[in-house]
Amino acid sequence: THDHPFTSGLISWYRQHARELPWRHTQDPYAIWLSEIILQQTRVAQGLPYYRKLLEVFPTVKDLAKSDESVLFRHWQGLGYYSRARNLHKAAKIIVNQFGGKFPTTYDEWIKLPGVGPYTAAAIASFAFGEVKPVVDGNVFRILARYFGIRTDILHNSARKEFTSLAQELIPKDQAAEFNQAIMDFGSIQCSPAPNCSSCPLSTACYAFQNKQVNQLPVKQKK
Ligand code: ADE
Repeated sequence: THDHPFTSGLISWYRQHARELPWRHTQDPYAIWLSEIILQQTRVAQGLPYYRKLLEVFPTVKDLAKSDESVLFRHWQGLGYYSRARNLHKAAKIIVNQFGGKFPTTYDEWIKLPGVGPYTAAAIASFAFGEVKPVVDGNVFRILARYFGIRTDILHNSARKEFTSLAQELIPKDQAAEFNQAIMDFGSIQCSPAPNCSSCPLSTACYAFQNKQVNQLPVKQKK
């Protein structure tokens, strides 16, 4: 293929190390949306039981839309950040009452829904619809800053634009979903804040590793 070595390395790493997660076995936008809202501010291990339970209590967006918000809140107990639940319920009503129960199919439509930001819209659009949009968060900043030796201050407003445009160049058109899943796992397992470079197959091409700057990258300056 013509992928960048970063991309082919990342995807081959993922094929050996992917976490086994239930929302990776579905293309149902409802289940994927629910998982992404939960995972916005909750770790995978903590979010898993809530994901399963919420899907059981509200199997479809219609069930969610017609429920009383207080029922959702009750099942949200322990997750915190209740604005997520409020927005989830609001968006369910919009999908059912304004879109006739049909989910949006593009990033540009998803991002208009309450509670759906750029990361979540990219995750849903790529996982459920194969749209070629990279997820970009602190994990992605860290991975790209290290591998490519990017010294942009990630706390500066311009960082998001710069890392998004690099990620957009790297994401393969025919494997957008896999690239996004891969970069999530790579950031959490391999290129974590305290990374495991000795076992990393990307280390030979990684700027930070080769230049002993793993602990200096990404740059977090602004205070
Ligand atoms: N964090 C946010 N979205 C995620 C996903 N789909 N899988 C694992 N971690 C995530």
